[in-house]
Amino acid sequence: MYNESQTKTLQHQTVEYLNKQINVADIEQLRDILRFHEYRYYVQNNPLISDAEYDILYKALEKIEKGNPKLITANSPTQRVGIGLIKDFPKIEHLVPMLSLENSYNADDLLDWDRKARELSGLDIVEYCIEPKFDGASISLIYEDDILVRGTTRGDGVVGDDITPNTKQIKSIPLSANFSELGIKQIEIRGEVMLNKKNFAAYNESLIAEGNAPLANPRNAAAGSLRIKDTAEVSRRKLEAFLYHVSYIMGNGQKTTGNVQLSTHSSMLEMLWSLGFKSPKKEMLVVKGIQAVINHINEFEQLRDTLDYEIDGMVIKVNDLKLQDQLGMTSHHPRWAIAYKFKARQATSKLIGIEFQVGRTGAVTPVAKIEPVSVGGVTVGSISVHNEDYITDKDLQLGDSILIERSGDVIPQIVKSFPELRTGTEQKIVFPTNCPVCNHALVKPDEEAVWRCVNINCSAQVVERIIHFVSKDAMDIRSFGEANVRKFYEMGFLKTIPEIYTLPWDKLAALEGFGEKSIINLQAAIEASKRQPLNRLIYGLGIRYVGETTAKTLANNVTHLLDFVNNSEEDLKQLEDVGVKVAKSIYTFFHDDENIKLIKQLEELGLQLNNEKKELVRDGNLTGLTFLFTGTLNKLKRSEGEAMVEQNGGKILSGVSSKLSYLVVGEDAGSKLEKAKNWEQ
Ligand code: IVH
Repeated sequence: MYNESQTKTLQHQTVEYLNKQINVADIEQLRDILRFHEYRYYVQNNPLISDAEYDILYKALEKIEKGNPKLITANSPTQRVGIGLIKDFPKIEHLVPMLSLENSYNADDLLDWDRKARELSGLDIVEYCIEPKFDGASISLIYEDDILVRGTTRGDGVVGDDITPNTKQIKSIPLSANFSELGIKQIEIRGEVMLNKKNFAAYNESLIAEGNAPLANPRNAAAGSLRIKDTAEVSRRKLEAFLYHVSYIMGNGQKTTGNVQLSTHSSMLEMLWSLGFKSPKKEMLVVKGIQAVINHINEFEQLRDTLDYEIDGMVIKVNDLKLQDQLGMTSHHPRWAIAYKFKARQATSKLIGIEFQVGRTGAVTPVAKIEPVSVGGVTVGSISVHNEDYITDKDLQLGDSILIERSGDVIPQIVKSFPELRTGTEQKIVFPTNCPVCNHALVKPDEEAVWRCVNINCSAQVVERIIHFVSKDAMDIRSFGEANVRKFYEMGFLKTIPEIYTLPWDKLAALEGFGEKSIINLQAAIEASKRQPLNRLIYGLGIRYVGETTAKTLANNVTHLLDFVNNSEEDLKQLEDVGVKVAKSIYTFFHDDENIKLIKQLEELGLQLNNEKKELVRDGNLTGLTFLFTGTLNKLKRSEGEAMVEQNGGKILSGVSSKLSYLVVGEDAGSKLEKAKNWEQ
């Protein structure tokens, strides 16, 4: 669209315009500059100026047009906005019916389709153009004498809604394009209006923030946005449009491809791109023969999750326009194109049961059992439904028809239920009042969405805690695994974490599936875990709110795990990323006798509890002296000051006591200073 020298000139002019007094004589030049930046931003996704700079130029144009209304043109960049409310959408009959495409789902379908194309054309091999199948809402645009005169929805394929004002809000759709230079007087272009993943997520967040239900997918959001009657709102949604098909071209009085002599579909897409349209020029691929099509589709499907926007398949088109004409169409769809649908990511199913699972922190999670369905190539039979509020929000009842979704590697979700399909036999989901495993009464702590079993000895929690301890991110005891933990627990060999290190090997050796080799491997893995770094052990202990990162922070701040016994909540809050809630949880953990007993047991069993990276300095300048920091230091974080003391052989105490040599007082020091002063007296 803009070659290198045009780009340079326009950017040069942009700088000049940003620094000068713009007046009426500059109006066309200013519009060209604005169109150029719209193109860079909306079509190429590669802006050259900031939004603020664009706004300065845009406002300058608005001002000139306000003073000279006669100079306003239909394709001025200002004409995208300010149209206001649309009363009703007039119905428009399409110039050419907007047919849909035949669908294919596997290689056989494509081989079949190719065979027919070859038979009808008499060719041995056909050239195809492959494009993404954009998952949005289809539109038709008509340009006459270079100006966008109409935008229409697909409607029923014959008659659609006139949504011209809304299409003008879509910044990747040019308000005018230089078709006349190519001998084209009137042209109809088809494409797909989309909301990219990022804008969709942002839009859904804003809906939720306003207390509204989020939309299920970007396609619904795009389709809905096109029919909004407030153009300002349409503009806010940040829609974009991919244009992938030219359905009609008129030259001077006759159907033509103008003087450009375009003979292929791919060159049409290139022409559109060169005129400033967002056509899939970069995304398309031209190949010969159906096998190359199949190969490309398989490769592209892998990229699906890396794209900024949603696609639900690929579209394969016969590239030669004459051959397209020759193949013609059936009453439903063209014979020269076919859609290949990727594996569906949404599916409908039935909610047939609900199970309540108890996690290692006692949280009770409802898990929906559904009639198994295939989504995104995986059979799904159960889905976590998080908590009681979630069940209420989604209005789920046993026996309901439900819509489920699975995107890429994402865990399957229930999108919605269909209350309108209820027959009266559905049952409300009742949340248990007692733990489904140990029967202890459940509690729902304030400000939490989950119900918890608070019985620390609840067998479900114990098993989950051991599973967590041996897991890959914690102590990484390779050949242990969830199944062995459960098995050993049920057999009574493994009731606590320390018992991992005292398993009765003679009894295990007698079990089926435990040959000599697997026993040796397991023993070696358990033995190796004793030397895991302290952060893994801390993470493995499963302290509430202590994830892998916090575990690293904690490990880096002590020389021995039991040093935490001397830390107050205040001390802990000084650590990076440790807030009130986390500090309280760590403090509680290290002030629980059972936990201390467990840690000491682990040490006796040979686990290393020292922070090996943090060597004790035995003869530094501060050796033999003790320090305590209080208040905010001016130049250092408290943790940095403490580290300096330790690096020089000093020791940090957690409270004022007779053993304290120095109290380092920062700003806003509190009770420790008071206590120390009183001590002196
Ligand atoms: S070509 C006459 N190309 O898929 C042929 N359609 O199920 C016009 N779609 O109605 C369609 N991406 O809304 C074509 N690259 C693409 C497409 C595409 C998405 C949509 C379009 C069409 C539907 C067919």
